[in-house]
Amino acid sequence: MHQIKDYINSNKDRFINELITLLKIPSISADSSYSKDVFNTAHAVKEALENAGCNLVEIHKTAGYPIVYGEKIINADLPTVLVYGHYDVQPPDPLDLWDSPPFQPIIRETALHPEGAIFARGACDDKGQMYMHVKALEFMVKTDQLPCNVKFMIEGEEEIGSDNLGIFVANHKEKLANDIILISDTGMIANDVPSITTGLRGLSYVEVEVTGPNRDLHSGLYGGAVANPINILTKMITSLHDENNRITIPGFYDKVEELSPAERTEMAKAPFDLDTYKKALDIESVYGEKGYSTNERNSIRPTLDVNGIWGGYTGEGAKTVIASKAYAKISMRLVPDQDWKEITELFKIHFESIAPTGVKVKVIPHHGGQAYVTPIDTVGYTAASKAYETTFGKKPIPQRGGGSIPIVALFEQELESKTILMGFGLDSDAIHSPNEHFGVWNYLKGIETIPYFYQYFTEMSTS
Ligand code: BES
Ligand code: MN
Ligand code: MN
Repeated sequence: MHQIKDYINSNKDRFINELITLLKIPSISADSSYSKDVFNTAHAVKEALENAGCNLVEIHKTAGYPIVYGEKIINADLPTVLVYGHYDVQPPDPLDLWDSPPFQPIIRETALHPEGAIFARGACDDKGQMYMHVKALEFMVKTDQLPCNVKFMIEGEEEIGSDNLGIFVANHKEKLANDIILISDTGMIANDVPSITTGLRGLSYVEVEVTGPNRDLHSGLYGGAVANPINILTKMITSLHDENNRITIPGFYDKVEELSPAERTEMAKAPFDLDTYKKALDIESVYGEKGYSTNERNSIRPTLDVNGIWGGYTGEGAKTVIASKAYAKISMRLVPDQDWKEITELFKIHFESIAPTGVKVKVIPHHGGQAYVTPIDTVGYTAASKAYETTFGKKPIPQRGGGSIPIVALFEQELESKTILMGFGLDSDAIHSPNEHFGVWNYLKGIETIPYFYQYFTEMSTS
């Protein structure tokens, strides 16, 4: 990849400014009041793909937000890389915890990003990482070095479960046919410890509702004599973990893939400093399933977490009341061989069964998806590994991740191709949190590394 460094150096200000323009659009897929902005972002992505050199770019309407599809086909006999990413972002709240407004990007230095980081919702997840691919394509096209065919599929509903993308993929298998899927929507260990994510956890997301009396009651007149839905709900939730922090839902662990001692030993070799980890989060100790390390707990083990809980009076001062209803949102992260629909059903049966008489319980399933593990003895992984080695000067470490991109398992099922997760963010980049950011160095390193993947993948697949 001749001149990649020069090209980045002479265009970096423009690369950064283009990303900043994209980050200014609040494409919050979960909040319908931003619907117009989400549609506008799809158009901005379409334009960016056209400018980068795609010879066909289309916006595909769905029942929800559009999918932007772009391609540059140079020779049907050459391999095809399909790039996936998302232009939607998570809601930015709580707003008061941001040091600068989430949709007014600014560049600030941090301890881990001495060359500056772009602070904005979506900077890392996933506009910044998606845009690295657009700029990498621009470089390859402008310098006449694109070695193979490329297709882009950028969606606007990843943060709300990708339901419509699933339908699109199933209906456009030929259009999306490819030899490898490439995604930058994960992270790496550190800027001097490159890693490639080899696994994603599955997900089952449910909402529960506990109803007691038919109206809110005076907590003196009725307190102690009727079931308080908030008391009951918290008790039920507590019972979902045992004293070893294992999940108590019957059958929950039945299909969990257990790693061999050799695999666990290999995993434990990844650099990890518990003190730094605790310090960064201001916690005195870590917490989790007995018998597993922190890195195992957040990648190869399934979990259950309350994401939100509400009910009753939460305003200023005190109000003596027993609420009629209490609610919670619960996510379960799943690992290979657990089926998310089956786990959702197991949760529902169990949660309903532990409700005491005196309350009614409703379980409302939201979205979900299967876990995914990418093999490392493939041309795709080797090409990615060589690409990192070229630009970081170090062989990347394969590492299973804890997050979820539910569509990836579906890609394998529908398109029969493997996915390579080339993430350039850091865990500390605060995705989904206030002050999300993406290192300028990481952004440019991604743009530099991606073209090498194309080169090595094409060389290895055609030789
Ligand atoms: N990019 C993340 C997933 C991710 C981040 C995976 C870091 C591995 C490392 C993605 O946008 C995301 O947030 N996914 C959701 C699931 C989705 C169904 C809302 C998640 O993991 O919570
Ligand atoms: Mn993402
Ligand atoms: Mn996300």
